[in-house]
Amino acid sequence: MTEINNTNSSEFPRIITGNGRLAAFLGANKGAVDAGLADAGALLFRGFDVPDPVAFDAAIEAYGDPGFTYEDSLSNAVRTNVTPRVFTANEAPPTTEIFLHHEMAQTPLYPAKLFFYCEIAADTGGATPLCRSDWVLDRLAADAPDFVARVEAEGVRYANVMPGSDDAGSGQGRSWRSTLSVDNREGAEARLAELGYSWEWREDDSLRATTPTLDAVRALPDGRRSFFNQLIAAFRGWADSRNDPNRAITFGDGSAITSGNMAAAIAIADELTYDLNWQAGDVALIDNFAVMHGRRPFEGKRRVLASLVA
Ligand code: FE2
Repeated sequence: MTEINNTNSSEFPRIITGNGRLAAFLGANKGAVDAGLADAGALLFRGFDVPDPVAFDAAIEAYGDPGFTYEDSLSNAVRTNVTPRVFTANEAPPTTEIFLHHEMAQTPLYPAKLFFYCEIAADTGGATPLCRSDWVLDRLAADAPDFVARVEAEGVRYANVMPGSDDAGSGQGRSWRSTLSVDNREGAEARLAELGYSWEWREDDSLRATTPTLDAVRALPDGRRSFFNQLIAAFRGWADSRNDPNRAITFGDGSAITSGNMAAAIAIADELTYDLNWQAGDVALIDNFAVMHGRRPFEGKRRVLASLVA
């Protein structure tokens, strides 16, 4: 009989080993699973019988929360659906590191939780780094109080350049047509205006879009606060033929967030990161408001699938 030990608050992620169908376990233990998730921020289900994406989809359905659809989201990543609720986590090349982030925190629309499933583990590398953002914020508030006070008071803005058609060679390669679910510029402008973005068209049919001011710190239900934003990933990773990371993030007033500002946050997050080294059949459930995730570079035929929960 598998039990969830919700008594050790410092265990991260919380590892739940069991056997049998994960769908049956999640359906029967929703309350304890959610209590563990609220406490730990990330749960790893290991040893259960999850042979394929269909079984993963069944586990998500059994958990029971509604889905957050990729089509409706403003995610910048290029992805492909495998089942109605399951998609490839990111089509960026294996050598590309995806830096720590809260899913879609660079947009006004984001999921509350994420499921990941390892169908095929990489030969080398390919861990999913996980990092508690409440711990990051506590440390950062002590080390860089002025920076934390400023992003908390002003919020932050993100700017990124989206290509006219999908570029799978970039972690930021989703086209503006797909990102905004439109097929022409008029539609794109209407959608951006509705979301409070500003924008600028460029000669190669790419679009530079700047978000409205978004919160950089979030209060969790139990009163903890988290560094809920996309600053680390944007600063470290939004580099491709169209994007310069030094222009990607600003304070709410539009002035640049510098490498000096970001150094402390990056160092603290790196120090607090746990690398989830996947085994085939593993499933992880992440509280998107409390925990950042990323992807280490890898070699081999890694296949980790994802599902977003509203
Ligand atoms: Fe992500």
